[in-house]
Amino acid sequence: MPATIIDGKQVAGEIKAALAARIASLREQGIQPCLAAVLVGDDPASQKYVASKERTCTQLGIKGIVHRLPSTTSQDELRALIAELNADASVHGILVQLPLPGGLDEKDIMERIAPGKDVDGFGPVSLGHLVMDQPGFLACTPHGVIKLLDAYQVDPAGKHAVVVGRSIIVGKPLSLLLLRRNATVTICHSKTAGLAEVCRSADILCVAIGKPGFITADMVKAGAVVIDIGINVVTSGALRGDVDFERVRQKASLLTPVPGGVGPLTIAMLMQNTVLAAEQRLRDQAQR
Ligand code: GUN
Repeated sequence: MPATIIDGKQVAGEIKAALAARIASLREQGIQPCLAAVLVGDDPASQKYVASKERTCTQLGIKGIVHRLPSTTSQDELRALIAELNADASVHGILVQLPLPGGLDEKDIMERIAPGKDVDGFGPVSLGHLVMDQPGFLACTPHGVIKLLDAYQVDPAGKHAVVVGRSIIVGKPLSLLLLRRNATVTICHSKTAGLAEVCRSADILCVAIGKPGFITADMVKAGAVVIDIGINVVTSGALRGDVDFERVRQKASLLTPVPGGVGPLTIAMLMQNTVLAAEQRLRDQAQR
């Protein structure tokens, strides 16, 4: 039987609907959650992602401000903008769209975002809390993957989860979240020996490597849950994931499409983190 196709739009819609009540409650207390996004340069994919985040902010009644900077922006100019946004009490969340143009130091910028505003969860404090299983901002795409597994009643406990990709944005935090859910986790990357065999041993296969159609049906165990986190623009202009969708759907039990799988969850979790940042600020102020 072909795989059930996971409906990311539906799951994201439910999360956003639940946020509406929290946003209304903040509004009653005179607060509108505010997300400041920083987009440097003119990468077409980044422009699309930021526009989509901006649209979702508007839909939900979150104030979305986009700072668009030229690709010639210097590290010091970017640092100055982050310092300004850190100090601005009307801003609850800060997001710097990655990748930054060549020559800019992404890690230096991630480290400078105030931990209370780190709604992308890429800063050292957020990542440290993740490692320590302490509350904190979770990176949006990995958190979205867990939400999809929950929505489709996939319990990672005791399962072999294979994560292909070791980025700070997806692979590393997702591995830790799956571990938190008691999966046995294997992280694969470009130097992994016998990758196909490792993938074939996965009960839950999560792929984030940015190579269209890389995961073929022979790399998938019959009945596996396959989560495709790749977003690749192919020559036709269409979006394709890292998984050979048509063939793998004949083998997997559950499969995410691209688009419409993990992508909508990334944005929903970003909105959730922004609302959480605003709620936390309100609580901190009340305690003072
Ligand atoms: N680039 C690709 N994914 C992401 C993301 O989740 N956040 C940011 N800031 N940049 C990205």
